[in-house]
Formats: sequence, C-alpha cells, structure tokens
Amino acid sequence: MNKRVILVTGTPCIGKTTVAQQLTAKLDAVYINLTEFAEKHSLTLGEDKERKTLIIDEEKMCTKIAETIDTAEKSTVIVDGHYAAAVVPKRYVTRIFVLRRNPIELRTLMQKSDFSDAKLWENLASEILDVCLVEALQEHEKEKVCELDITGKTVEAVVNEIRVVLNENKKCSVGHVDWLSMLEKEGLTGEYLKV
Ligand SMILES: Nc1ncnc2c1ncn2[C@@H]1O[C@H](COP(=O)(O)OP(=O)(O)O)[C@@H](O)[C@H]1O
Ligand SMILES: [Mg+2]
Repeated sequence: MNKRVILVTGTPCIGKTTVAQQLTAKLDAVYINLTEFAEKHSLTLGEDKERKTLIIDEEKMCTKIAETIDTAEKSTVIVDGHYAAAVVPKRYVTRIFVLRRNPIELRTLMQKSDFSDAKLWENLASEILDVCLVEALQEHEKEKVCELDITGKTVEAVVNEIRVVLNENKKCSVGHVDWLSMLEKEGLTGEYLKV
C-alpha cells in the first residue's frame, strides 16, 4: 500500500498534539506521537539531566518508524513531534506542516502549561529563530514543507487549512513568518530573546 505520511512539527506547546489528533480523526489515519513512541519502544539513550529531557536514539527511532509506516493498516500516517523532520526517513514523507505561533501568545500558553522558566525561554528562542522550520528544510525538499501561522486560530480552523493543502487546493509555502522583525518593531526583542 502506498502510504501518505504527514508530519506535524513545531516548537513545544505550539499546539501540535491538539491539531494532529483532530486531523487523525478526520483523515482516519494512524497517529504516532514521538514522545509516546520513544517510551513505548524504549528508544531513549538516557536523560539530559540539565535540560530534564530524554535523549532519543535517533537511529533506532528511524528504523522503528519506517517499520511502523510499512506495516500500518491505514493509508495515512500522521507523525507528531518537534523533531519529526529529523527521524522520519525522507523517502516516506509526503508533507511537513510546521506550526508557528506568535511568541507573545506562545509565552501565555507555556505559562498556563507550567513550563519551567528555563524551558520557557529556550522554547521561545527556538520559535523566534525558526528552529523547527530550518530543520524541516535541512532534511526535506522545500516543496513538501508548509509553514502555518496558527496564531489566534481555533484547532478546527488549523485542521481545515491543513486539509485544503492536502487536497491540493492551496500550495505550500515557507518564509512568511518573521517573529524577529515583529518583536523588534514592538521593542520586545530583549524581553523575549533571553538565551
Ligand atoms: N488552537 C489553539 N488555540 C488555543 N489553545 C490551543 C490551541 N491548540 C492547542 N492549544 C493549547 O495549547 C497547549 C499546548 O498544546 P499541545 O497540543 O499539547 O502542544 P504541543 O503538542 O505542540 O506541545 C494545550 O494547553 C492546548 O490546549
Ligand atoms: Mg505534544
């Protein structure tokens, strides 16, 4: 079976899981959440104590993901994770959606989600400096990468936007998000870029 593999990536807390799960239901897809997948299949090498995160065995994860896609019983597979672009083998990937959110709004969401201060500023810097987008473009063809600014949008609206792109009714594009210029204009660069 020819599989359609869709990656949903973006900075932690941006809204990936919320969007990816609703998209999975709409498309009757197989859903892979990389955090859960790593735990379930013991794909970790240990813990980064300073950053309080697990270190992923990327090579092992690539192999396991390929196996899971090959044996999936549905034609669409959705992979949710901020490092999805690095661990899903290139040949499988149909589309990569990089979710973006204005750092001012992302900060509020992270505060509600109880992120530590260190994590909050690290994640905000990643969002401001386009880390997930750059990684997607480093690993995959530009034509497959779709950057979506989801600031202020409902989950339903974002899922619909993704479906419009998947149905080929709208082209993918990247490069229209520029948080650095926005923060500069608002005089907020120093406050938001702390790392
Ligand atoms: N479109 C949205 N509008 C408002 N809040 C959202 C939206 N999508 C997600 N959230 C909230 O943001 C937080 C992080 O969402 P989540 O999907 O867990 O992010 P991620 O998987 O990227 O870490 C959750 O509290 C969630 O309820
Ligand atoms: Mg998540």
